[in-house]
Amino acid sequence: MSKVIKGGTIVTATDKYQADLLIEGEKIMSIAKQLDIPGAEVIDAAGCYVFPGGIDPHTHLDMPFGGTTTADDFETGTRAAAFGGTTSIVDFCLTSKGKPIKEAIDTWHAKAEGKAVIDYGFHLMISEMNEHVIDQLPKVVQEEGITSLKVFMAYKNVFQCDDDILYQTLLKARELGALVQVHAENGDVIDYLVKQALADGNTAPIYHALTRPPEVEGEATGRAVALTALANSQLYVVHVSCEEAVEKIAEARKKGFQVWGETCPQYLALDISYLEKPDFEGAKYVWSPPLRAKYHQDVLWSALKNGHLQTIGSDQCSFNFKGQKELGRDDFTKIPNGGPLIEDRFSVVYSEGVHQGRISINQFVDIISTKAAKLFGMFPQKGTIAVGSDADLVIFDPTVERTISAATHHMNVDYNPFEGMTVHGDVISVLSRGEFVIREKQFVGRPGNGKFLRRNTYSM
Ligand code: URP
Ligand code: ZN
Ligand code: ZN
Repeated sequence: MSKVIKGGTIVTATDKYQADLLIEGEKIMSIAKQLDIPGAEVIDAAGCYVFPGGIDPHTHLDMPFGGTTTADDFETGTRAAAFGGTTSIVDFCLTSKGKPIKEAIDTWHAKAEGKAVIDYGFHLMISEMNEHVIDQLPKVVQEEGITSLKVFMAYKNVFQCDDDILYQTLLKARELGALVQVHAENGDVIDYLVKQALADGNTAPIYHALTRPPEVEGEATGRAVALTALANSQLYVVHVSCEEAVEKIAEARKKGFQVWGETCPQYLALDISYLEKPDFEGAKYVWSPPLRAKYHQDVLWSALKNGHLQTIGSDQCSFNFKGQKELGRDDFTKIPNGGPLIEDRFSVVYSEGVHQGRISINQFVDIISTKAAKLFGMFPQKGTIAVGSDADLVIFDPTVERTISAATHHMNVDYNPFEGMTVHGDVISVLSRGEFVIREKQFVGRPGNGKFLRRNTYSM
């Protein structure tokens, strides 16, 4: 049955206007001042914004990491994402040295199929570069629709790659039009600092942050930018947390290089002091890169406002406090890195960004949805509200308040890093390709309804 969303204020990255919207099947069929369609289901959106569905370009669902596996899988993670206003995610497909890439991709498809309630794509992690990988990459990018390649510059002896692998990835990506993503921290220096801290008997969560200072992020970001320039390629820096890294990205962009950056809600709203919470609670706030001194938050907001950074990913990588984060009680290096953010990314950025006057409402849509759609080859199918686009829509009431809590969130994890924070505005209903996933704050979706997104190469 056709649906008409009536009386809402449609907001895109460029426009804000009151109009009705007709959905036929999976697509937006018409947008007009007033639509009265006989037989269509009418959805009242008076007083609400109608946003394009959020696109989360950075998630880790059902991922083995740090001696354990993330608490959220593709079912619980995408369900929570939908509650929070996100209708597409791009998850990281891990690979292993010496193993066929196809095997890794098949594994990731198996994790998602039959479980995802919203659409999903994959980024491919690069763990080695040899003839075998080079042979397979064209198929991965052009046929599988996995058009972004991730290189870790940190996590020594786990995921970390040497610069030659990053450089070869950049060269191959240029040829294929793929986007190279980096986790930019200097893993060798971190390894040295960590060994020193442990030798000095410093085992508490705060040492996770103190052994990964902003300089190691700034240095690695600058190195990745330099190699991108040398390769004449394209780079997307994930989870930027500090001024040192923003400066490198801004400088590169000023010189005309194809370099983009993402930050995450935790770096915008939390700071390093959280790692010092008593009773080992600091472990809940262990991310890499770590939370920073408070002044970095202003730098990141300005970078989003001025276009030096383009997107916000959740870096969803949830571990329970009980039984998972606790693995590092006596040694901060054993705390699994990551946190649950997929659900609150949209609301925290709206509330702290738009409501607090740090970014405009159009900028909000751009960084929460549109830019990710463009960078990751989904635009204009996703990331905007236009005739012919997928009807991935969020009906959002800006007048209400919500207090974030693990007691009411939908992620499969026993804490929320934003516990007790009041956000302005709330997601009321969410449609994915024309079907309700969330209706009046109730889940009405179905595991398996989410489709794999065979993405195009980036377009900016
Ligand atoms: O601490 C983090 N960020 N965990 C997820 C893995 C990564 O580095 O993105
Ligand atoms: Zn990372
Ligand atoms: Zn990540």
